[in-house]
Amino acid sequence: MQEVLPEGAVIRKLWVGEVAIYREHVLRLDPHSRRNRFGGGVSDAYVEMYLNVSFAGDAVVHGCFIDGALRGAAELRPLGSHRPDEAEAALSVEKPWQSHGVGSALLSRTLLAARNRGIRRLHMACLADNHRMQQLARKFDAELSVEFGSVIGEVATSRPTPMSLMRELLTDGHSLATAMLDLQSRMLRG
Ligand SMILES: CC(C)(COP(=O)(O)OP(=O)(O)OC[C@H]1O[C@@H](n2cnc3c(N)ncnc32)[C@H](O)[C@@H]1OP(=O)(O)O)[C@@H](O)C(=O)NCCC(=O)NCCS
Repeated sequence: MQEVLPEGAVIRKLWVGEVAIYREHVLRLDPHSRRNRFGGGVSDAYVEMYLNVSFAGDAVVHGCFIDGALRGAAELRPLGSHRPDEAEAALSVEKPWQSHGVGSALLSRTLLAARNRGIRRLHMACLADNHRMQQLARKFDAELSVEFGSVIGEVATSRPTPMSLMRELLTDGHSLATAMLDLQSRMLRG
C-alpha cells in the first residue's frame, strides 16, 4: 500500500528511552480520541502506568514524527506464549493529524513487523461507534466482529519472507546480514 503522509512526517520505531515522548503524545490526545484509544475514559495516571508497562514488555511501537514531534503511534503487542502467533495492535493519532494517512501508514508498518515476528493474526479492538478505526481496519481487509459492545478487527498476515524482513530492516537501518541469519534460524526452528 502506498504511504501518503503529511509533509515533514517520518515513521520509525520508538526505543525504550523514548517512553517520555510517547507519554506526552498520548496525553495530548483530545478526550474523544483518548476514549477511543483506550476503549473508555481513562485518567492521566492510568496512561502513565499503562505506558510504563507497555514499554517494559515486548511491544513494538512505531511512531510518526511530524516536524520532529511525535504525533501518532501504533503498538504491536504479542499475546504471549499461550498464543505465540497472535498479537494486538492499538493506534493513536493526534486530532489535527487525523485523516491525513498517518493511521494507515502506521498500521502498514505494524503489519509488516507482525509478519516478520511470525504473528499470523493481528487483533484490533475498538468501541462500536469508532467508525474511523473500523474503516481503517477494513482498508487492510480485516474481518470485523462485534463482541460485548466492541468491534474486533482481525487481519491475517502472510509468512515472513527475505523480502519482508529486508523491507523492515531497511527502514530501520539495520544490516541485511542480521536479517538473513534471523530468517535462517527461524526457518530451522519452524
Ligand atoms: C483511528 C485512527 C488511528 C485513524 O488514523 P488516521 O490517521 O485518521 O487514519 P487515515 O488518515 O490513515 O485514514 C484511514 C481510513 O479511515 C477512514 N477515515 C478517515 N477519516 C475518517 C472520518 N473522518 N470518518 C470515517 N472514516 C474516516 C478512511 O477510510 C481512511 O481511508 P482512506 O484514506 O483510504 O480514505 C485515528 O483517528 C485515531 O487515533 N483515533 C483516536 C484513537 C483510536 O480511535 N484508536 C483506535 C483504537 S486502538
